[in-house]
Amino acid sequence: MMQKQREHWSSHLGFVLAAAGSAIGLGTLWKFPYVTGENGGGLFVLIYIFCTFFIGIPIFIAELVLGRKGQRGAVGVFATLANHSAVWKGVGWLGVASSFLIMSFYSVLAGWGLNYVFMSLTRFYENRSAQEIAGVFDLLASSADITLFWHFIFTALTAAVVYRGIRQGIEYWSSFMTIGLLVILIGMCLFTATLEGFGKGVRFIFYPDPSHFHPSASIQALGLSFFTLSLGQGVMLTYGSYMRRSDDIPKTALIIAAMIIFVSLLAALMIFPIIFTFGFPAEGGAGLVFKTLPVLFAKLPGALFISTAFFILFVFTALTSAVALIEVVAANFTDLLGWSRQKAVLVVAVSSFIFGIPSALSQTQTLFGNWIAIYGKTFFETIDDIVSLWFLPIGGLMVAIFTGWFLDKEISHEEFDSGTTMRWMWRPWFFFMRWVAPVAIVFIILQQSGLLDVDAYFGSKRVAK
Ligand code: TRP
Repeated sequence: MMQKQREHWSSHLGFVLAAAGSAIGLGTLWKFPYVTGENGGGLFVLIYIFCTFFIGIPIFIAELVLGRKGQRGAVGVFATLANHSAVWKGVGWLGVASSFLIMSFYSVLAGWGLNYVFMSLTRFYENRSAQEIAGVFDLLASSADITLFWHFIFTALTAAVVYRGIRQGIEYWSSFMTIGLLVILIGMCLFTATLEGFGKGVRFIFYPDPSHFHPSASIQALGLSFFTLSLGQGVMLTYGSYMRRSDDIPKTALIIAAMIIFVSLLAALMIFPIIFTFGFPAEGGAGLVFKTLPVLFAKLPGALFISTAFFILFVFTALTSAVALIEVVAANFTDLLGWSRQKAVLVVAVSSFIFGIPSALSQTQTLFGNWIAIYGKTFFETIDDIVSLWFLPIGGLMVAIFTGWFLDKEISHEEFDSGTTMRWMWRPWFFFMRWVAPVAIVFIILQQSGLLDVDAYFGSKRVAK
Protein backbone atom coordinates (compact mmCIF):
# COMPACT_ATOMS: atom_id res chain seq x y z
CA MET A 1 0.00 0.00 0.00
CA MET A 2 2.86 2.34 0.65
CA GLN A 3 5.08 1.41 -2.25
CA LYS A 4 5.50 3.17 -5.55
CA GLN A 5 3.48 6.28 -6.20
CA ARG A 6 1.77 7.44 -3.08
CA GLU A 7 -1.84 8.30 -3.57
CA HIS A 8 -2.96 11.61 -2.19
CA TRP A 9 -6.30 12.69 -0.87
CA SER A 10 -8.66 13.90 -3.54
CA SER A 11 -9.85 16.83 -1.49
CA HIS A 12 -9.09 18.50 1.76
CA LEU A 13 -12.55 17.74 3.07
CA GLY A 14 -12.06 14.09 2.18
CA PHE A 15 -8.93 14.07 4.29
CA VAL A 16 -10.52 15.76 7.27
CA LEU A 17 -13.41 13.33 7.17
CA ALA A 18 -11.17 10.30 6.86
CA ALA A 19 -8.92 11.38 9.70
CA ALA A 20 -11.87 12.43 11.84
CA GLY A 21 -13.67 9.17 11.01
CA SER A 22 -10.76 7.15 12.29
CA ALA A 23 -10.28 9.35 15.33
CA ILE A 24 -13.92 9.67 16.38
CA GLY A 25 -14.78 6.29 17.70
CA LEU A 26 -15.42 4.43 20.89
CA GLY A 27 -12.91 6.69 22.60
CA THR A 28 -15.36 9.57 22.44
CA LEU A 29 -18.60 7.62 22.76
CA TRP A 30 -17.59 5.07 25.35
CA LYS A 31 -14.31 5.94 26.99
CA PHE A 32 -14.64 9.67 27.52
CA PRO A 33 -17.89 9.47 29.53
CA TYR A 34 -16.77 6.47 31.54
CA VAL A 35 -13.35 7.79 32.45
CA THR A 36 -14.87 11.18 33.26
CA GLY A 37 -17.32 9.44 35.56
CA GLU A 38 -14.54 7.58 37.35
CA ASN A 39 -12.49 10.72 37.81
CA GLY A 40 -15.14 12.92 39.31
CA GLY A 41 -16.24 15.09 36.37
CA GLY A 42 -15.64 18.81 35.83
CA LEU A 43 -12.04 19.31 36.76
CA PHE A 44 -11.04 16.18 34.89
CA VAL A 45 -12.85 17.41 31.78
CA LEU A 46 -11.06 20.70 32.05
CA ILE A 47 -7.68 18.99 32.28
CA TYR A 48 -8.61 16.77 29.34
CA ILE A 49 -9.40 19.83 27.23
CA PHE A 50 -6.25 21.50 28.45
CA CYS A 51 -4.13 18.44 27.55
CA THR A 52 -5.79 18.33 24.15
CA PHE A 53 -5.03 21.94 23.34
CA PHE A 54 -1.57 22.30 24.79
CA ILE A 55 -0.11 18.84 24.29
CA GLY A 56 -2.41 16.95 21.94
CA ILE A 57 -2.78 19.49 19.14
CA PRO A 58 0.94 20.35 18.93
CA ILE A 59 1.74 16.64 18.69
CA PHE A 60 -1.05 16.14 16.20
CA ILE A 61 0.55 18.84 14.04
CA ALA A 62 3.98 17.27 14.52
CA GLU A 63 2.75 13.87 13.37
CA LEU A 64 1.22 15.36 10.24
CA VAL A 65 4.41 17.32 9.57
CA LEU A 66 6.62 14.26 9.99
CA GLY A 67 4.35 12.10 7.86
CA ARG A 68 4.11 14.56 5.00
CA LYS A 69 7.85 15.07 5.05
CA GLY A 70 8.78 11.42 5.37
CA GLN A 71 6.11 10.02 3.03
CA ARG A 72 5.97 6.73 4.89
CA GLY A 73 4.21 4.88 7.70
CA ALA A 74 5.26 5.14 11.34
CA VAL A 75 8.36 2.97 11.32
CA GLY A 76 9.45 4.09 7.86
CA VAL A 77 9.28 7.80 8.68
CA PHE A 78 11.62 7.42 11.60
CA ALA A 79 13.88 5.23 9.50
CA THR A 80 14.10 7.91 6.81
CA LEU A 81 14.18 11.07 8.89
CA ALA A 82 16.41 9.65 11.63
CA ASN A 83 18.94 7.85 9.49
CA HIS A 84 17.74 4.40 10.37
CA SER A 85 18.48 4.89 14.04
CA ALA A 86 17.32 1.83 15.96
CA VAL A 87 15.94 3.89 18.83
CA TRP A 88 13.66 5.92 16.61
CA LYS A 89 12.55 2.91 14.63
CA GLY A 90 11.73 1.40 18.02
CA VAL A 91 9.42 4.35 18.64
CA GLY A 92 7.65 3.48 15.41
CA TRP A 93 7.26 -0.12 16.54
CA LEU A 94 5.95 0.99 19.92
CA GLY A 95 3.19 2.75 17.99
CA VAL A 96 2.48 -0.40 16.04
CA ALA A 97 2.25 -2.34 19.31
CA SER A 98 -0.18 0.25 20.70
CA SER A 99 -2.46 -0.06 17.69
CA PHE A 100 -2.41 -3.82 17.95
CA LEU A 101 -3.25 -3.78 21.66
CA ILE A 102 -6.02 -1.24 21.18
CA MET A 103 -7.53 -3.35 18.40
CA SER A 104 -7.57 -6.41 20.64
CA PHE A 105 -10.00 -4.90 23.13
CA TYR A 106 -11.69 -2.46 20.76
CA SER A 107 -13.25 -5.37 18.92
CA VAL A 108 -14.59 -6.86 22.16
CA LEU A 109 -16.30 -3.58 22.89
CA ALA A 110 -17.60 -3.11 19.38
CA GLY A 111 -18.75 -6.73 19.51
CA TRP A 112 -20.94 -5.88 22.50
CA GLY A 113 -22.27 -3.03 20.39
CA LEU A 114 -23.19 -5.51 17.65
CA ASN A 115 -25.03 -7.60 20.19
CA TYR A 116 -26.94 -4.49 21.28
CA VAL A 117 -28.02 -3.86 17.68
CA PHE A 118 -29.72 -7.21 17.64
CA MET A 119 -31.05 -6.92 21.16
CA SER A 120 -32.52 -3.54 20.24
CA LEU A 121 -34.54 -5.26 17.55
CA THR A 122 -36.10 -7.45 20.24
CA ARG A 123 -36.93 -4.39 22.36
CA PHE A 124 -34.97 -5.78 25.28
CA TYR A 125 -35.45 -2.58 27.26
CA GLU A 126 -39.24 -2.78 27.30
CA ASN A 127 -40.98 -3.17 30.65
CA ARG A 128 -37.72 -3.28 32.49
CA SER A 129 -36.57 -1.04 35.30
CA ALA A 130 -33.41 1.01 34.89
CA GLN A 131 -31.59 -1.42 37.16
CA GLU A 132 -32.75 -4.42 35.14
CA ILE A 133 -31.61 -2.78 31.91
CA ALA A 134 -28.21 -2.21 33.45
CA GLY A 135 -28.15 -5.84 34.52
CA VAL A 136 -28.48 -6.92 30.88
CA PHE A 137 -24.98 -5.66 30.22
CA ASP A 138 -23.49 -7.59 33.13
CA LEU A 139 -25.20 -10.68 31.86
CA LEU A 140 -23.76 -10.18 28.40
CA ALA A 141 -20.24 -9.37 29.60
CA SER A 142 -20.23 -12.42 31.82
CA SER A 143 -21.19 -14.86 29.09
CA ALA A 144 -18.05 -16.13 27.44
CA ASP A 145 -19.53 -17.66 24.32
CA ILE A 146 -21.65 -14.67 23.27
CA THR A 147 -18.86 -12.17 23.88
CA LEU A 148 -16.34 -14.30 22.00
CA PHE A 149 -18.75 -14.78 19.14
CA TRP A 150 -19.22 -11.04 18.62
CA HIS A 151 -15.54 -10.34 19.17
CA PHE A 152 -14.87 -12.74 16.32
CA ILE A 153 -17.56 -11.28 14.05
CA PHE A 154 -16.35 -7.72 14.53
CA THR A 155 -12.68 -8.60 13.95
CA ALA A 156 -13.64 -10.54 10.82
CA LEU A 157 -15.77 -7.66 9.56
CA THR A 158 -12.91 -5.21 9.99
CA ALA A 159 -10.44 -7.57 8.36
CA ALA A 160 -12.80 -8.04 5.41
CA VAL A 161 -12.97 -4.30 4.83
CA VAL A 162 -9.21 -3.85 4.97
CA TYR A 163 -8.57 -7.06 3.03
CA ARG A 164 -10.76 -6.16 0.13
CA GLY A 165 -9.48 -2.64 0.15
CA ILE A 166 -12.94 -1.10 0.17
CA ARG A 167 -11.92 1.73 2.42
CA GLN A 168 -12.96 4.21 -0.21
CA GLY A 169 -16.54 3.03 0.04
CA ILE A 170 -16.34 3.05 3.79
CA GLU A 171 -15.01 6.56 3.85
CA TYR A 172 -17.77 7.72 1.58
CA TRP A 173 -20.36 6.20 3.87
CA SER A 174 -18.63 7.36 6.98
CA SER A 175 -19.33 10.98 6.14
CA PHE A 176 -23.06 10.23 6.16
CA MET A 177 -22.77 8.11 9.22
CA THR A 178 -20.84 10.74 11.13
CA ILE A 179 -23.61 13.20 10.35
CA GLY A 180 -26.20 10.60 11.39
CA LEU A 181 -24.37 10.09 14.64
CA LEU A 182 -24.25 13.81 15.33
CA VAL A 183 -27.98 14.16 14.65
CA ILE A 184 -28.80 11.33 17.05
CA LEU A 185 -26.43 12.66 19.71
CA ILE A 186 -27.82 16.16 19.54
CA GLY A 187 -31.39 14.84 19.49
CA MET A 188 -30.72 12.74 22.55
CA CYS A 189 -29.10 15.63 24.36
CA LEU A 190 -32.21 17.71 23.71
CA PHE A 191 -34.18 14.94 25.28
CA THR A 192 -31.90 14.49 28.27
CA ALA A 193 -32.31 18.24 28.81
CA THR A 194 -35.87 17.48 29.91
CA LEU A 195 -34.80 14.97 32.55
CA GLU A 196 -34.76 16.10 36.14
CA GLY A 197 -31.13 15.06 36.52
CA PHE A 198 -30.02 17.31 33.67
CA GLY A 199 -28.84 20.16 35.86
CA LYS A 200 -26.84 17.80 38.01
CA GLY A 201 -25.37 16.16 34.93
CA VAL A 202 -24.28 19.47 33.42
CA ARG A 203 -22.81 20.53 36.72
CA PHE A 204 -20.95 17.26 37.01
CA ILE A 205 -19.41 17.67 33.55
CA PHE A 206 -18.61 21.37 33.63
CA TYR A 207 -18.17 22.43 37.22
CA PRO A 208 -14.56 21.94 38.31
CA ASP A 209 -14.99 20.60 41.80
CA PRO A 210 -11.55 19.92 43.30
CA SER A 211 -12.95 17.82 46.10
CA HIS A 212 -13.79 15.07 43.63
CA PHE A 213 -10.39 15.02 42.10
CA HIS A 214 -6.90 13.96 42.78
CA PRO A 215 -3.92 15.23 40.78
CA SER A 216 -2.70 11.89 39.50
CA ALA A 217 -5.84 11.70 37.36
CA SER A 218 -3.91 13.98 35.01
CA ILE A 219 -2.23 10.96 33.44
CA GLN A 220 -5.69 9.60 32.73
CA ALA A 221 -6.62 12.89 31.09
CA LEU A 222 -3.47 12.92 29.00
CA GLY A 223 -3.85 9.27 28.01
CA LEU A 224 -7.48 9.84 27.15
CA SER A 225 -6.60 12.83 25.03
CA PHE A 226 -4.06 10.78 23.07
CA PHE A 227 -6.44 7.88 22.78
CA THR A 228 -9.33 9.93 21.40
CA LEU A 229 -7.10 11.88 19.01
CA SER A 230 -5.31 8.65 17.95
CA LEU A 231 -1.95 10.17 18.85
CA GLY A 232 1.35 8.77 20.01
CA GLN A 233 1.22 5.74 17.74
CA GLY A 234 2.16 7.17 14.40
CA VAL A 235 -1.35 6.93 13.00
CA MET A 236 -1.76 10.59 12.16
CA LEU A 237 1.76 10.39 10.80
CA THR A 238 0.52 7.85 8.29
CA TYR A 239 -2.39 10.10 7.42
CA GLY A 240 -0.02 13.02 7.04
CA SER A 241 1.94 11.12 4.45
CA TYR A 242 -1.15 11.21 2.28
CA MET A 243 -1.66 14.97 2.60
CA ARG A 244 -0.86 17.34 -0.23
CA ARG A 245 1.55 20.20 0.09
CA SER A 246 -1.34 22.60 -0.35
CA ASP A 247 -3.17 21.21 2.68
CA ASP A 248 -3.23 23.29 5.81
CA ILE A 249 -1.74 21.16 8.59
CA PRO A 250 -2.37 23.31 11.70
CA LYS A 251 -5.89 24.11 10.65
CA THR A 252 -6.68 20.46 9.98
CA ALA A 253 -5.39 19.46 13.41
CA LEU A 254 -7.44 22.19 15.08
CA ILE A 255 -10.64 21.25 13.24
CA ILE A 256 -10.33 17.56 14.04
CA ALA A 257 -9.46 18.16 17.69
CA ALA A 258 -12.41 20.54 18.04
CA MET A 259 -14.75 17.97 16.50
CA ILE A 260 -13.52 15.34 18.92
CA ILE A 261 -13.98 17.52 21.96
CA PHE A 262 -17.44 18.45 20.74
CA VAL A 263 -18.55 14.86 20.23
CA SER A 264 -17.02 13.78 23.56
CA LEU A 265 -18.94 16.47 25.40
CA LEU A 266 -22.15 15.54 23.60
CA ALA A 267 -21.69 11.92 24.63
CA ALA A 268 -21.18 12.98 28.23
CA LEU A 269 -24.18 15.32 28.10
CA MET A 270 -26.25 12.43 26.90
CA ILE A 271 -25.14 10.03 29.60
CA PHE A 272 -24.74 11.94 32.87
CA PRO A 273 -28.28 13.33 33.11
CA ILE A 274 -29.49 9.72 32.85
CA ILE A 275 -27.12 8.72 35.61
CA PHE A 276 -28.34 11.39 37.97
CA THR A 277 -31.99 10.93 37.09
CA PHE A 278 -32.02 7.20 37.66
CA GLY A 279 -29.54 7.04 40.48
CA PHE A 280 -26.75 5.12 38.79
CA PRO A 281 -23.25 5.51 40.16
CA ALA A 282 -21.22 7.93 38.02
CA GLU A 283 -18.24 5.62 38.19
CA GLY A 284 -20.13 2.91 36.32
CA GLY A 285 -17.06 1.51 34.60
CA ALA A 286 -16.67 0.18 31.11
CA GLY A 287 -20.32 -0.79 30.79
CA LEU A 288 -21.55 2.76 31.32
CA VAL A 289 -22.80 3.45 27.79
CA PHE A 290 -24.57 0.12 27.53
CA LYS A 291 -26.17 0.43 30.92
CA THR A 292 -27.47 3.96 30.73
CA LEU A 293 -28.55 4.74 27.17
CA PRO A 294 -31.13 1.97 26.73
CA VAL A 295 -32.90 3.37 29.80
CA LEU A 296 -33.39 6.54 27.84
CA PHE A 297 -34.31 4.80 24.60
CA ALA A 298 -37.08 2.93 26.36
CA LYS A 299 -38.73 6.23 27.25
CA LEU A 300 -38.67 7.66 23.76
CA PRO A 301 -41.30 7.34 21.09
CA GLY A 302 -39.85 5.19 18.31
CA ALA A 303 -37.54 3.45 20.77
CA LEU A 304 -37.07 0.49 18.46
CA PHE A 305 -35.74 2.71 15.70
CA ILE A 306 -33.65 5.02 17.85
CA SER A 307 -32.01 2.28 19.84
CA THR A 308 -31.22 0.21 16.76
CA ALA A 309 -29.95 3.22 14.85
CA PHE A 310 -27.78 4.33 17.74
CA PHE A 311 -26.07 0.99 18.12
CA ILE A 312 -25.62 0.65 14.35
CA LEU A 313 -23.84 4.00 14.40
CA PHE A 314 -21.87 2.93 17.45
CA VAL A 315 -20.62 -0.14 15.57
CA PHE A 316 -19.99 1.88 12.48
CA THR A 317 -17.81 4.49 14.13
CA ALA A 318 -15.97 1.61 15.77
CA LEU A 319 -15.50 0.06 12.35
CA THR A 320 -14.01 3.18 10.79
CA SER A 321 -11.52 3.31 13.66
CA ALA A 322 -10.80 -0.42 13.69
CA VAL A 323 -10.08 -0.38 9.97
CA ALA A 324 -7.38 2.23 10.61
CA LEU A 325 -6.03 0.26 13.56
CA ILE A 326 -5.59 -2.92 11.53
CA GLU A 327 -4.27 -1.03 8.56
CA VAL A 328 -1.47 0.76 10.41
CA VAL A 329 -0.25 -2.51 11.83
CA ALA A 330 -0.54 -4.37 8.53
CA ALA A 331 1.03 -1.56 6.50
CA ASN A 332 4.28 -1.86 8.42
CA PHE A 333 4.48 -5.55 7.60
CA THR A 334 3.89 -4.98 3.90
CA ASP A 335 6.35 -2.09 3.89
CA LEU A 336 9.16 -3.64 5.84
CA LEU A 337 8.83 -7.37 5.52
CA GLY A 338 7.58 -7.38 1.97
CA TRP A 339 4.43 -9.33 2.85
CA SER A 340 1.44 -9.14 0.54
CA ARG A 341 -1.36 -6.97 1.80
CA GLN A 342 -3.66 -9.98 2.10
CA LYS A 343 -1.20 -11.96 4.16
CA ALA A 344 -0.47 -9.02 6.44
CA VAL A 345 -4.14 -8.31 7.08
CA LEU A 346 -4.92 -11.95 7.82
CA VAL A 347 -2.01 -12.36 10.20
CA VAL A 348 -2.83 -9.14 12.05
CA ALA A 349 -6.54 -9.90 12.31
CA VAL A 350 -6.04 -13.47 13.53
CA SER A 351 -3.44 -12.39 16.09
CA SER A 352 -5.59 -9.56 17.30
CA PHE A 353 -8.55 -11.92 17.70
CA ILE A 354 -6.44 -14.36 19.69
CA PHE A 355 -4.85 -11.67 21.80
CA GLY A 356 -8.31 -10.21 22.44
CA ILE A 357 -9.67 -13.45 23.91
CA PRO A 358 -8.55 -12.69 27.50
CA SER A 359 -10.16 -9.26 27.20
CA ALA A 360 -13.35 -10.84 25.94
CA LEU A 361 -13.33 -13.22 28.87
CA SER A 362 -12.36 -10.60 31.40
CA GLN A 363 -15.76 -10.43 33.07
CA THR A 364 -16.62 -14.11 32.88
CA GLN A 365 -16.20 -16.98 35.32
CA THR A 366 -13.08 -18.22 33.60
CA LEU A 367 -9.39 -18.09 34.23
CA PHE A 368 -9.20 -14.53 32.92
CA GLY A 369 -12.11 -13.48 35.07
CA ASN A 370 -9.85 -13.99 38.07
CA TRP A 371 -7.47 -11.31 36.88
CA ILE A 372 -9.48 -8.63 38.63
CA ALA A 373 -9.21 -10.44 41.96
CA ILE A 374 -5.43 -10.46 41.66
CA TYR A 375 -4.68 -7.14 40.01
CA GLY A 376 -7.71 -5.07 40.95
CA LYS A 377 -8.66 -4.39 37.34
CA THR A 378 -10.08 -6.58 34.62
CA PHE A 379 -7.71 -7.86 31.96
CA PHE A 380 -9.51 -5.63 29.46
CA GLU A 381 -8.87 -2.54 31.58
CA THR A 382 -5.27 -3.58 32.21
CA ILE A 383 -4.48 -3.65 28.51
CA ASP A 384 -6.28 -0.35 27.99
CA ASP A 385 -4.27 1.17 30.85
CA ILE A 386 -0.94 -0.13 29.60
CA VAL A 387 -1.57 1.50 26.24
CA SER A 388 -3.28 4.70 27.38
CA LEU A 389 -1.20 5.45 30.45
CA TRP A 390 2.20 4.32 29.17
CA PHE A 391 2.56 3.56 25.48
CA LEU A 392 0.68 6.55 24.07
CA PRO A 393 2.22 9.18 26.38
CA ILE A 394 5.70 7.76 25.72
CA GLY A 395 5.01 7.67 21.98
CA GLY A 396 3.78 11.26 22.10
CA LEU A 397 6.81 12.32 24.13
CA MET A 398 9.16 10.80 21.57
CA VAL A 399 7.37 12.53 18.69
CA ALA A 400 7.72 15.83 20.55
CA ILE A 401 11.41 15.27 21.31
CA PHE A 402 12.12 14.19 17.77
CA THR A 403 10.40 17.18 16.23
CA GLY A 404 11.63 19.68 18.78
CA TRP A 405 15.24 18.57 19.13
CA PHE A 406 16.36 16.16 16.43
CA LEU A 407 14.64 17.16 13.24
CA ASP A 408 16.23 20.02 11.35
CA LYS A 409 14.24 23.08 12.36
CA GLU A 410 14.09 24.26 8.75
CA ILE A 411 12.38 21.05 7.66
CA SER A 412 9.57 21.29 10.17
CA HIS A 413 9.22 25.00 9.55
CA GLU A 414 8.86 24.46 5.83
CA GLU A 415 6.32 21.64 6.24
CA PHE A 416 4.37 23.65 8.77
CA ASP A 417 4.18 26.68 6.49
CA SER A 418 3.39 24.90 3.29
CA GLY A 419 -0.31 25.34 2.63
CA THR A 420 -1.19 27.04 5.88
CA THR A 421 -2.84 30.36 6.51
CA MET A 422 -1.71 30.19 10.13
CA ARG A 423 1.99 30.84 9.72
CA TRP A 424 2.09 32.87 12.92
CA MET A 425 1.44 29.65 14.79
CA TRP A 426 4.83 28.24 13.91
CA ARG A 427 6.66 29.97 16.75
CA PRO A 428 4.28 29.07 19.55
CA TRP A 429 3.92 25.59 18.12
CA PHE A 430 7.64 25.00 18.03
CA PHE A 431 8.05 26.30 21.56
CA PHE A 432 5.36 23.94 22.78
CA MET A 433 6.89 21.06 20.91
CA ARG A 434 10.35 21.69 22.24
CA TRP A 435 9.59 22.59 25.85
CA VAL A 436 6.04 22.47 27.06
CA ALA A 437 4.91 19.10 25.69
CA PRO A 438 8.02 17.11 26.72
CA VAL A 439 8.21 18.65 30.18
CA ALA A 440 4.52 18.18 30.81
CA ILE A 441 4.53 14.59 29.59
CA VAL A 442 7.64 13.65 31.57
CA PHE A 443 6.12 15.21 34.65
CA ILE A 444 2.90 13.28 34.17
CA ILE A 445 4.73 10.01 33.49
CA LEU A 446 6.89 10.42 36.61
CA GLN A 447 3.79 11.01 38.62
CA GLN A 448 2.21 7.92 37.12
CA SER A 449 5.21 5.76 37.87
CA GLY A 450 5.15 6.82 41.51
CA LEU A 451 8.55 8.53 41.35
CA LEU A 452 6.90 11.82 41.96
CA ASP A 453 3.90 11.87 44.21
CA VAL A 454 1.80 14.93 43.55
CA ASP A 455 -1.07 13.46 45.52
CA ALA A 456 1.05 13.14 48.62
CA TYR A 457 2.31 16.64 48.12
CA PHE A 458 -1.19 18.01 48.01
CA GLY A 459 -2.18 15.67 50.75
CA SER A 460 -5.25 14.37 48.96
CA LYS A 461 -6.45 10.84 49.19
CA ARG A 462 -6.96 8.42 46.34
CA VAL A 463 -10.49 8.43 45.08
CA ALA A 464 -11.84 4.98 45.74
CA LYS A 465 -13.05 3.32 42.55
N1 TRP B 1 -9.24 7.53 18.52
C1 TRP B 1 -9.98 6.32 18.47
C2 TRP B 1 -11.25 6.47 19.27
O1 TRP B 1 -11.48 7.46 19.87
C3 TRP B 1 -9.23 5.16 19.01
C4 TRP B 1 -7.89 5.04 18.44
C5 TRP B 1 -6.75 5.16 19.12
C6 TRP B 1 -7.57 4.77 17.09
N2 TRP B 1 -5.72 5.00 18.29
C7 TRP B 1 -6.18 4.76 17.04
C8 TRP B 1 -8.32 4.59 15.93
C9 TRP B 1 -5.53 4.52 15.85
C10 TRP B 1 -7.66 4.37 14.75
C11 TRP B 1 -6.28 4.35 14.70
O2 TRP B 1 -12.02 5.58 19.34
